[in-house]
Amino acid sequence: MLVVYVIASASLAYLIKQLVDGRSHKITRDGKPLRNPPGTLPLFGNGLKFLLLDRQSLFDWFSKIHNDIFGFETYEISVPTLPPGIVVSSPDVLEFIMKKEGSEGFGKGPFFEERSWHLFGRHGIINASGHLWKTQRKAGNKFFAGSNLQILVDEVFPKFWERAREELDEAAETGKIVDMEELYLEFTTRVMGRVAFGMDLSNSHPFSAAFDYASDLTGLRFQNPLWKLNYYLFGQKFRKAVSIVKSFGNEIVRLAVCRRENDDPSVNKGTDSTDDGGDLVDMLLDAVPEHHVVADSAINFLSAGRDTTANSMTWVLHLLLEQPEFIPYITDELPASAVHTYASLSTALTPKSHAVFLETLRLYPPVPFELKQTLNPSGMTLPDGTVLPPKSVVVWCPYAYGRSKRIWGDDAYDFRPDRWIESSSSTDKTKEVKLKVKSASEYPVFNGGARSCLGKRMAEVMGVWVLGESLRNWEFEEVDKIGRRRSRNSLTLPMEGGLKVRVRKRQN
Ligand code: HEM
Repeated sequence: MLVVYVIASASLAYLIKQLVDGRSHKITRDGKPLRNPPGTLPLFGNGLKFLLLDRQSLFDWFSKIHNDIFGFETYEISVPTLPPGIVVSSPDVLEFIMKKEGSEGFGKGPFFEERSWHLFGRHGIINASGHLWKTQRKAGNKFFAGSNLQILVDEVFPKFWERAREELDEAAETGKIVDMEELYLEFTTRVMGRVAFGMDLSNSHPFSAAFDYASDLTGLRFQNPLWKLNYYLFGQKFRKAVSIVKSFGNEIVRLAVCRRENDDPSVNKGTDSTDDGGDLVDMLLDAVPEHHVVADSAINFLSAGRDTTANSMTWVLHLLLEQPEFIPYITDELPASAVHTYASLSTALTPKSHAVFLETLRLYPPVPFELKQTLNPSGMTLPDGTVLPPKSVVVWCPYAYGRSKRIWGDDAYDFRPDRWIESSSSTDKTKEVKLKVKSASEYPVFNGGARSCLGKRMAEVMGVWVLGESLRNWEFEEVDKIGRRRSRNSLTLPMEGGLKVRVRKRQN
């Protein structure tokens, strides 16, 4: 009884403090408060919406508010216990925020860090700032700038795709139903296990289940103002999952250090080793002396690339099965007869396949929701005149940017890969097809500025490669054809219920 009383009193005191703090720092434009979205309640603000709506409904709400009410106008949202916050929808304002990354402008801030550092750690690239962040960013850039990406595409992808190929061939023969989300996730887990840790990591490894559970709960923390209470009262399973993830990261680094000390390549990776090309743990150990930082960082890289890429492949296949008229965009450029290599998958040689991939991410961005905080101790003023006190939370929703009719036109909700294609007649009268370029502030799927996604090119080439392999050999039919699918609650944008298909061998 006493425990309940103490918890209730502490929560109430915390709530009142946060409410008072929130009210004493006002966000203004032209000296007036900003508009609030319809349905904002006195005291509760938009808190109930955040607490009760599933994530996709919340993203649909942001899209509707942008298209039907506020357009590019920055508006205010409020949630009890949270610092004052705004939602940004204008590309110009977003460009400014992306450019002003850092302690004098905007950064992850305590709001993001507090919710994510159980899983991501304080020192990995996702939460680090200053020198520690720069060092990891440099190591990541070095990894992708060298021949690693080419080795991945030409050697690692075909090797890891072998299991998927066998499963799809068997399904075509036996009529077995395949969940393509699971199949793609197994592939991306193995590729990212190889990139981050230099090992062959299956999705059936206990690390993967623990990581999935901890990610889903971390995602929900951003919607639940009472997440801390939840964590202290019911967080046992979450703590266990995080401890499995951390132990795994530490063990990988310990083995890598051992191998380097003994100069023995077999120590690092044991029976799961892959010896084709370098890996990030090695590169990070060259740059960062603290082993716990390397462990956090490697887990961060794995989490940045594993689910995002599997999500995107699943949504592409779903949209192509909904609108098969766009399948030739891929099969014409990536015919069954050709070998697809890193060199042959450039945007110049496969613009239409890239268009399908980018168009899918416009509608289903794997990182659908982003937030930063004003780090500048004097606050910040946005180009539209919005004055932000220090620690204000700044939110934008790439999902809503992708569905903006002001940016993409009235057909913004339609899947139309051709909107990415630029055709021009060259001098010899042949049509030249080129991929259109969109700025990061109109298409914030990979973020922009100093913190833009390090794995963008890898994600594109992986998506196009996998779709080429999938569509040149098999035909797919969704088992439950129920129209556009929804996403389930998570940190990224997985498909609710997976993508279950029947498979037939393609007659080429
Ligand atoms: C379709 C797939 C992908 C999408 C949509 C995507 C999107 C993003 C976004 C939006 C961010 C910024 C997140 C933030 O604000 O903190 C980000 C950061 C990052 N991404 Fe990706 N990503 C994808 C795939 C990958 C892959 C394959 C890797 C490979 C390792 C990767 C590595 C990273 C890293 C390391 C960061 C942190 C960068 C930093 O903070 O400096 N991503 N990504």
